[in-house]
Order: sequence, then structure tokens, then C-alpha cells
Amino acid sequence: MLIALLPGDGIGPEVTEQAVRVLDAVTGDALSFERGLVGGAAYKAVGHPLPPETLDLARRADAILFGAVGDPDCDALERHLRPEQAILGLRKELGLFANLRPARLFPELADASALRPEVAARIDLVIVRETNGDVYFGEKGMRTTADGLREGYDIMSYNEAEVARIARVGFETARARRGRLCSVDKANVLETSQLWRDVVIEVSRNYPDVTLNHMYVDNAAMQLVRDPGQFDVIVTGNLFGDILSDQASMCAGSIGMLPSATLNSRSQGLYEPIHGSAPDIAGQGKANPLATILSAAMMLRYSLGKAAEADRIEAAVAAALAAGARSPDLGGRMSTAEMGDAVLAAL
Ligand code: IPM
Ligand code: MG
Repeated sequence: MLIALLPGDGIGPEVTEQAVRVLDAVTGDALSFERGLVGGAAYKAVGHPLPPETLDLARRADAILFGAVGDPDCDALERHLRPEQAILGLRKELGLFANLRPARLFPELADASALRPEVAARIDLVIVRETNGDVYFGEKGMRTTADGLREGYDIMSYNEAEVARIARVGFETARARRGRLCSVDKANVLETSQLWRDVVIEVSRNYPDVTLNHMYVDNAAMQLVRDPGQFDVIVTGNLFGDILSDQASMCAGSIGMLPSATLNSRSQGLYEPIHGSAPDIAGQGKANPLATILSAAMMLRYSLGKAAEADRIEAAVAAALAAGARSPDLGGRMSTAEMGDAVLAAL
């Protein structure tokens, strides 16, 4: 099976390297990795954040293992040349619309959560975030108002087919878990959200076994820190999901712990930690590779049909934490490679 390995920028190469070591250990030689340039690294090498060879590799691959993109050197470039366009372009070009972001607290990390341990202990949820539409992909630009003021704009929209297909992923995910789905929107203010809510209710008729509720996004942000245990599956749009998933990660201990999968309708997937490129600590061996290692486990489960191997990796991460493995974000001193060693030892 072919894996497109796209390390990207900042800490991306360090964390993906550890994930590859772990994958090799559990799969023997079943996977072959082909490396591609992406993000600021690709821009600097060949002048584009998502070169055609990388896109072609991603299309051919059974799955994509992605590090992170983002490079302060590139912040002044025109938007279509910025590193972030690589991940947005891959999501769009490959139709990767369903971003699954599980957040649960490993019991050993209760002290690392920003929440009181007894509140944090109850977190076990999945955010299902739409990643092919919304204000991310609407018409955008800069213009001048009649008064001569500079004005930026980004249009938010969803059509009913886009909402229905992500709603179905939300309901299916809830059905396979504790049977509760919370749809997050801002229907008290936004037309986009009113359609979202109407369509989610329509789709719910096919899932009588799933309990559906609706929450405004501001309330959802508050409820996530007040009582995260109330959530099973959250389904939401691109922008709200971006924000809520970073928030959920801190409730669950560290942003260095949360994996993600982004699937298309062919269950080809892109797997990446939810954290960014962290340029401030890049190259210093301080990054926590566990989010990427857990993303590799999701890849085995969702795209490669290797659930037993995925279970082994997840158990090894839990065992490494139980044995005291801690990178700096978790309050410890272990390096990126030592964290990888700890998982390999636990395997
Ligand atoms: C994420 C990231 C991306 C996003 C950026 C890098 C474009 O924050 O995957 O959450 O906003 O989707
Ligand atoms: Mg984000």
C-alpha cells in the first residue's frame, strides 16, 4: 500500500519521522512511503506550496500522512502561494470533506489539562468538521469602499448537498459511538446556519436511533470547558470546527496529543496532527510526536483496513504515557525521538 508522506514545515518533519518508525514496527513492509514536498518547504524548493507532483502523488496514494504547514518567512506572500494553501488545496482537490477530530483524555494526563482533573476526565468526543466549504472557500478579496476605506471580505455559504453529506457522517459516527449528535451553528444570526440546521433536521429522520440536539457556537465553546463530558459527537462547519477543535485539544491535555483524519467519499484519507508547524520550537527536538503517531493509527483503521494494528499503536501510546513518557508540552523533558522510542518500547 502506498502512503504519500508529506512532512511539510516546522516540526512536521520531526513528528512524521517518529510516526513512520512506529508504522514500520507494526506493519513490517506492508507500507511503502513516497515523500512529497508541501507547504513553505515546497515553495522554497520549487516555487509553489502544492506542486503538481505532490498532488499527483496524493491522488495515487492509498492514504496521506501529513505533518504540518506554515512558515513565518512566507506570511507576506500572495495568499495563493502561502503554505496553508497546500492543506486547503489537498482537501479540495481530493474531495476530503469529512474531518474527524477525536478528543479524549488519557487518564495519565489529567494534570496536563487546562480543566480541573475531574472535569477533564469526562472528555471523550469526536468533532466532525466539514472541510470543503464555508467561508474558507467562498469568494474573497480586498476592495475599496465608497468612502475610500480598504475592505476585506470572505463569503460564507453552504448548499444543502454539502450539509447533508457531512450530517450523514456525523450521524454515522454517533451511531457507532454513544448515539448522541450535537450540531453546532449560529442560526440565530446567519442564514448559512439556518439552512445548516434545517438540513441536519431533515437528515435526522433517517437516524431515529441517534439523539440530536443543536447548539449555538458561542454556547458550545462555553459548554466545552464547563462540562465536556456532555458531548459524544459534534458536527459543524469548517470555521466553527477549526476553532472548537483547538479548544477541545487543550481540554484533553495538550494540542500535541490530538490526531485527525480527513476522508473523502472513497475513504481515501489525509491524516495529520491537529497542531500546526510550531516554528518557535522547530528543529529542537521539543515537539510531541504523539498526535502524529495517533494519526497514523487512524490511517491504519480508516484507510488501510488494519484495525488490529491501529489498536496496538493506541495501546502503546497509552502504555508509554503510563510509564511516564512526557514531552515538554506535557510537563516533561523527553525529546521528540525519545517519545518515539517510548512508544516503540511499549509495542
Ligand atoms: C487546521 C489548520 C488549518 C485550517 C490551516 C493550517 C489552514 O488550522 O487544520 O485546523 O484552518 O483548517
Ligand atoms: Mg486549526
